Amino acid sequence: MRHASPTPAAHAEEDDFLVSVREGLRRHPKSIPPKYFYDAHGSRLFDLICTTPEYYPTRTETGILERHGAEMAEMIGKSCVLIELGSGSAVKTPLLLRHLNDDAVYVPIDICEPHLLHSTQRLQTMFPALQMQPLCADYHRLPTRVLKQHAKRRRVVFFPGSTIGNCTPADAVELLRHAAEVTGPSGALLIGVDCKKSPEILNAAYNDAAGHTAAFNLNLLTRMQRELGAQLDADGFAHHAFYNEGQGRIEMHLVSRSRQAVRLGKETFAFDAGETIHTENSYKYTAQEFRQLARAAGWQPETVWSDGDGWFNVHYLSAHPAMKSHLSVLPARRGRYSPVPS
Ligand code: AVI
Repeated sequence: MRHASPTPAAHAEEDDFLVSVREGLRRHPKSIPPKYFYDAHGSRLFDLICTTPEYYPTRTETGILERHGAEMAEMIGKSCVLIELGSGSAVKTPLLLRHLNDDAVYVPIDICEPHLLHSTQRLQTMFPALQMQPLCADYHRLPTRVLKQHAKRRRVVFFPGSTIGNCTPADAVELLRHAAEVTGPSGALLIGVDCKKSPEILNAAYNDAAGHTAAFNLNLLTRMQRELGAQLDADGFAHHAFYNEGQGRIEMHLVSRSRQAVRLGKETFAFDAGETIHTENSYKYTAQEFRQLARAAGWQPETVWSDGDGWFNVHYLSAHPAMKSHLSVLPARRGRYSPVPS
């Protein structure tokens, strides 16, 4: 594996982080977008969360892909260009890749470069014949030159993990529209969506006994110290996550244990005791609610696969023929990974 030096994308992300934190701490209530959880350490912590007994989404979606992966591959087309948004460790991806033809192309997209390169290398070892084209980028704004070749193949966006739940419903529609631009009018979307269920199960999933979710949330403060030179007492904050039934979402916050101040550059942000930084929402949808969102973004709902308890859904949506694609695919390589900077 070639270890890439920081790309322009990495520098752009640092600048984004500073701007987002500064703006987020000026707001009332204070907030920071969840995409900044995923530095190298945060990505590792997320992987640990996925192994806890309380965090059911990963193993539940994995079970669905194990049972129905072959059928999904038939539907999306075995020689497609599979574009995975926020691929991370791509642990579930083999469950789909193993049913694709050797001439399929896999395009993993992730914001964390080391994670992206490492997981692509692992997948290439497992599937040596598949072409792989990793892209280090924020999938909310993919560079328009990303998808230039393979124009004749069906483009399919794979978005597992219920990451769509981390957007507000309005932003989710935006992102689904963006996915439609990526696939074009003959494309498809295969997307994992966590379902509404009892608050006890949901609250436990975001408050695991091993403390990995707490560490994941608090890592944001450590990242601010390390990358932005923020002056703060990380121990002065606590993890707080709860299901907001009215909104149909888990909320994660960092709660200030006392009256204190955070310094960022020349600015000082005062916190009252109990005041929070809202760090994440994780919306939960019934199949019907999600289909409605998808339709609003121009997708045609086709099939939904679920687990026996109805805790998690994987939706297959086809693109509406009226959709337009502005994007095209770059040449893919086998075996060497230098992510394309955005
Ligand atoms: C990535 N995303 C779908 C996770 C979720 O469940 O919302 C992130 C997460 N936050 C805390 N635990 C897991």
